[in-house]
Amino acid sequence: MNKTSGHHESGTPTLIDNFDRRISYLRISVTDRCDLRCIYCMSEDIKFVPRSQLLTLEELYRVGKNFVDLGVSKIRITGGEPLTRRNVMQLFEQLGQLQGLKDFTLTTNGTLLNRYAAPLKAAGINRINISLDTLRADRFLRITRKGDIRATLDGIDAALAVGFDRVKINSVILKHHNHDEVADLVRFAQDRGMDISFIEEMPLGFVGDHDRATVYYSSDQILMDLQKYYQMTPTNESSGGPARYYRVNGSPHRVGFISPHSHNFCDTCNRVRLTAEGRLLLCLGQEHSVDLRRVVRAHPTDDEPLRQAIIDSMQIKPKGHEFDLSAKPVIFRHMNATGG
Ligand code: GTP
Ligand code: 5AD
Ligand code: SF4
Repeated sequence: MNKTSGHHESGTPTLIDNFDRRISYLRISVTDRCDLRCIYCMSEDIKFVPRSQLLTLEELYRVGKNFVDLGVSKIRITGGEPLTRRNVMQLFEQLGQLQGLKDFTLTTNGTLLNRYAAPLKAAGINRINISLDTLRADRFLRITRKGDIRATLDGIDAALAVGFDRVKINSVILKHHNHDEVADLVRFAQDRGMDISFIEEMPLGFVGDHDRATVYYSSDQILMDLQKYYQMTPTNESSGGPARYYRVNGSPHRVGFISPHSHNFCDTCNRVRLTAEGRLLLCLGQEHSVDLRRVVRAHPTDDEPLRQAIIDSMQIKPKGHEFDLSAKPVIFRHMNATGG
């Protein structure tokens, strides 16, 4: 039998790549559009994909369902800003019903959570990650190019009120933009019972705002900054993602570091990504991909070719990324095309 279509002892199918990594996690970007324009994510005059080229909500569900049939147990919905897609709740409700799905999560900028937190919880979303890079309104406007921090802060409050299993803050730290706020961001998260992850900027696409090498601020530097204020104890816990976690002053809430530059985590990669156009990306930092939109549309009623295309894609999942901050970007996609 082909190694990439094996079965677990339990009898459930599994997806295994050529480096013996089991793929259990699918990230689905439902739109590349966003109501913000973060300086590390996109350029100010970014052109979005015409809506006619996006997978429909029904097609997104079909792909998600087939991944779950193939043993994927975790789906994260990303964007752009996923909650800006029209009628997107319908997709959450359908995916939330899938039996094999054990972890159903969302990454959002929070601006629309005031309206959507309760229906998301009802649809089965169990964890939410919300992006917040600064606590200061003027900096928030500078970093997002157009955002009002109140909307995101209200969204965080709404998510906390609804009672998800976990609400995590994501902060991309850039030198001279927000590096001096790391201790304040940790306090903000701890006071509200949230985890927080600090993320090193990744060189995806041309953003036209800053030179990525000069704003690089390493996770190790952030950890040293935090140790001046807090007792930081490493833990081995993982949420199935790339973050390395610490506990702060013995509290149950964690501080994570996502460090593609200083601590590569590709050997334990368990994920693939679906773009809003239906391209299955096998690695965030490489171009290897399969056009699932073509397969879905060529076979509107038969799922077998789609399943086979997913199984075959395991053969081309690359070993890892080759990010280099000092070189020109080699990946021309922006982060909003893949949802991180
Ligand atoms: P959980 O582990 O479920 O908490 O999610 P996560 O932290 O992986 O997801 P999230 O959408 O919050 O992404 C946080 C950051 O991690 C983003 O900047 C992502 O781009 C980055 N990230 C997630 N997966 C990968 C990966 O496979 N490779 C790289 N280089 N970065 C990743
Ligand atoms: N590098 C690192 N993280 C990024 N994000 C967006 N663009 C980049 C980038 N170039 C983050 C967002 C969000 C997550 C999905 O990805 O802040 O939290
Ligand atoms: Fe939008 Fe998230 Fe990109 Fe910011 S990082 S522009 S919130 S998709």
